[in-house]
Amino acid sequence: MKTIPVEALNELDAAIELAALAREIARHDKLYHGKDQPEISDADYDALVARNRAIEARFPQLIRADSPSRRVGAAVAEGFAKSRHGEPMLSLDNVFSPEEFSDFCKRIRRFLGLSEDEALAFVGEPKIDGLSINLLYENGLFIKGATRGDGAEGEDVTANLLTIPSLPRNLAPPFPERIEIRGEVFMEKADFLGFRAAQEKAAEAREARRAAGEKLGDSIVIPANPRNAAAGSVRQLDARITATRPLKLLAYAMGAASETPAETHHAFLDELRRWGFAVNPLSRRLDSEDVAEAFQAEMGAGRAGLAYDIDGVVYKLDRIDWQRRLGFVGRAPRWAVAWKFPAEQAVTKLLDIEIQVGRTGALTPRAVMEPVNVGGVVVRHATLHNEEEIARKDVRIGDTVTLQRAGDVIPQILGVVLEKRPAESQPYAFPQACPACGSHAIRDGEDVVRRCTGGLTCPAQTTERLRHFVSRRAMDIEGLGEENIQTLFDAGLVKSPADIFRLHQKREILAGFEGWGERKIGKLLEAIEARRIVALERFIFALGIRRIGEQNAKLLARHYHSLEAWRAGMIAAHIIGSEAREELGSIQGIGPAIAEELIEFFAEPRNLAALDDLAAEVAPLPVEEAGAADSPFAGKTMVFTGTLEQMTRDEAEALAERLGAKVTKSVSKKTDFVVVGADAGSKATKAAELGVKTLSEAEWIELARS
Ligand code: IVH
Repeated sequence: MKTIPVEALNELDAAIELAALAREIARHDKLYHGKDQPEISDADYDALVARNRAIEARFPQLIRADSPSRRVGAAVAEGFAKSRHGEPMLSLDNVFSPEEFSDFCKRIRRFLGLSEDEALAFVGEPKIDGLSINLLYENGLFIKGATRGDGAEGEDVTANLLTIPSLPRNLAPPFPERIEIRGEVFMEKADFLGFRAAQEKAAEAREARRAAGEKLGDSIVIPANPRNAAAGSVRQLDARITATRPLKLLAYAMGAASETPAETHHAFLDELRRWGFAVNPLSRRLDSEDVAEAFQAEMGAGRAGLAYDIDGVVYKLDRIDWQRRLGFVGRAPRWAVAWKFPAEQAVTKLLDIEIQVGRTGALTPRAVMEPVNVGGVVVRHATLHNEEEIARKDVRIGDTVTLQRAGDVIPQILGVVLEKRPAESQPYAFPQACPACGSHAIRDGEDVVRRCTGGLTCPAQTTERLRHFVSRRAMDIEGLGEENIQTLFDAGLVKSPADIFRLHQKREILAGFEGWGERKIGKLLEAIEARRIVALERFIFALGIRRIGEQNAKLLARHYHSLEAWRAGMIAAHIIGSEAREELGSIQGIGPAIAEELIEFFAEPRNLAALDDLAAEVAPLPVEEAGAADSPFAGKTMVFTGTLEQMTRDEAEALAERLGAKVTKSVSKKTDFVVVGADAGSKATKAAELGVKTLSEAEWIELARS
């Protein structure tokens, strides 16, 4: 069809064409996002969008409700649908030595109030490094499967998982009505090598075709290790590709379930086998913690001979009732731990020390080294922590250094090989000024970290804060990665978090950036729009206040419930002796240093202005009462004092939190209950003075269990 110049269109033709364009563009969106099978090139797509916009500019009265230009914020499938886990998928804390493992056991004993002679039985399971997944079964049928994602929500990869031969489609009865099974999808070493060789060959062939001038689709990924290979295979948009990949599945845990299928973890593993899952045959019940060290050594020795890579052993407390009582702290269970094999080491040359400026102004030195292979991973950078660390180890540019890489942590420099030090080398002089803005960089009192004093004027701090703001655990704005933030900042479009939410007014400017097509801009603006409503804890964490990590952000959100209440509380806490300051100080887990940081942050008018500016764009969701809504403790503020007989204080406080209570350290007018154990002191007296309700331990337990 011949296109009529926009100027020559009459109103009727324009209306007809706009309707056609809306339909046409929506169809291409679907092909692109949903099926990953676009029919037209990006340039042709952009031309359609531009035509739509030009017509709308001339006939604004004809802009349709379903116009592509208004579709910012519409939920377009981004490849995979999101899938919320029935129970969060967590990670594990690591230990590296018998001492650390023994400390882990001690913490369990202390929490549960167990004596030394009570044996802790564990199940040891080889820790395979693959991709963890969550599988939902209802009435014995496989319903859906998802990746871990951010722990609360993953990607629905059901179709891909169905291509894995060892995934049971239905469970052998009897089974719980509804149960989530967790396990690891992985590739064996030999399969990985074969797969990688095939990918390399395919990439060569593709290169030849490209050189011959052929137009090609997606490039071919050559995975660096079995983990990446497994993850990439499961996350294919076309399940037929996944089907060609040699994937295996081993099951090892449970998420939400309508009933508990076993009383011990080893019995649960037997159930998994009976239902039809593959369970690692090397998993073993260990009668007491004393056998763990021998098991660890045995697995370490046998590691090289296994068909798959393992990076340690997971130890899980066998008794599930104890697991329940122990619960979780942060993102990891108190009842399980990953005991990692010793870190891999290597020797290489230190080429340079770069200074990075973090969002709180911390100057962090980073080692740039000659690339070296450390246990299968090529390492170029390592952390040097801080100025003191460099001085203590006397690390100099040009030195030969030993470095170590343990698990997925950033590699560390252990020390210098002095025999190889060049004669002319000089001790490293740590910069006294911020490399980004030139402001003085100072060390405050005891602080080992040198910080830039440029504050809000330092561009490095600002961009780091913005990066933190959009990062996955914070506001989670997809498509606003490192590079894009830098581009937007350099162009002067985004200087503060609130600016991100005003980007939609800058479409024209964005369209002028190199490589920023209509589609990319549309997707980005959609991702931003989708984040105008977020959980309060994410919002607080995203602000990037020093010492306010995810855990503390959660505590604050749970305590204050709404942005308004938190803001008011923080401002009022500025006054020494105020009720608000006392309230802040009484929040369990918020120590004086953290409280100080918050008060300081809110005392800075520019911070407050930036916060209010942002609050005009974003609506953080007030926190609903956590835990069992019908518990008498839901939403109540509680204090525990004195010695409890039937459970430890740790356990009592954790239980209260599970029931939706806020546990605080000191008694005030706002306290709802004080649980008074034996030998209670001043807190019990204060409760009586203020007329706060007190409970005996027996009363507390009875109400908690009701
Ligand atoms: S249990 C609450 N068991 O390790 C229990 N995890 O760092 C959490 N993993 O994301 C997981 N083998 O990908 C568990 N036998 C095993 C495991 C295992 C490997 C991975 C898994 C998880 C990560 C936790």
